[in-house]
Amino acid sequence: MSRPSILVTRRWPVAVEAALSERFDVTLNKADIALDTGQLREALRAYDAVLPTVSDKLPAALFEDEAIRTKILGNFGVGFNHIDIAAARAKGIVITNTPGVLTDCTADIAMLLLLSVARRGGEGERELRAGAWTGWRPTHLVGTKVTGKTVGIIGFGRIGRAFAQRCHFGFGMDVVFHNRSAIDPMEAARYGAMQLQTVEDVLAASDFVSLHCPGGAENRHLMNAARFAAMKPSAFLINTARGDVVDEAALISALEHGTIRGAGLDVYEAEPNVPERLSAMDNVVLLPHLGSATEETRTAMGMKVVDNITAFFAGREPPDRVA
Ligand code: DGY
Repeated sequence: MSRPSILVTRRWPVAVEAALSERFDVTLNKADIALDTGQLREALRAYDAVLPTVSDKLPAALFEDEAIRTKILGNFGVGFNHIDIAAARAKGIVITNTPGVLTDCTADIAMLLLLSVARRGGEGERELRAGAWTGWRPTHLVGTKVTGKTVGIIGFGRIGRAFAQRCHFGFGMDVVFHNRSAIDPMEAARYGAMQLQTVEDVLAASDFVSLHCPGGAENRHLMNAARFAAMKPSAFLINTARGDVVDEAALISALEHGTIRGAGLDVYEAEPNVPERLSAMDNVVLLPHLGSATEETRTAMGMKVVDNITAFFAGREPPDRVA
């Protein structure tokens, strides 16, 4: 029997590409250039499985095609708001993701952003590399103390909890959070955290606000002009979730007008485009979507996809099916 044909849309860690090649008839993207809409449409017509990631946009229109052959989208990543899930499901396509294995690394990046923006690490590095450092002085690049402050978390899933744990037990911070469903207070206490009723309650209480909810329609522009106005003027926003959770234009305006003090961002509304007005600001730390970018995690993510599609083609339920 011929092996299922698989398209991997980007370069993946070597060990994962090797594992895929052992089991399937695999086409790799050696050039690692993101596929355009036409190429993705062709891929859905030509392969039994397509393994996309966050840089692949798969809107409803791509699934309105009688010639689709693909039976499973094995997404590389936990977030899947780049795929129109309802349209894919309507075509009978199964979708899987890679939860669990990127929790710690994404929480670490949120902490890196929090520390960098509060302590002005990016500004300091830029100054030093530019040869502009003139020496120690009491008023030089004075930032905001982190230890003992209050952090507000929006979305108390795996990554929100891991971040809470770091903030509370690592930095002695008070942790409050908003989550759509109620979390058992005893469970929240394991992470040193306390649930508040509304997003606004969290914003009003927090010196740092960190987003850990999914992207997509339900949370689109959750952080808008009114919500920035509800934050303390001395507070910082951290986003390692998805760009569309934040109204980027409203964020830029809030930063420019001093409505909030700063932001640490790993994700953007129109990646890889980052508005110039954001890059021009010193009170902003910008990373290029690095949340899960460690050797260990990227390999583990890929191996999860291998497990998911292996189960699917063996007629078993994929362990990480989302639709
Ligand atoms: C994820 O897993 O969602 C990462 O952000 C990469 O897509």
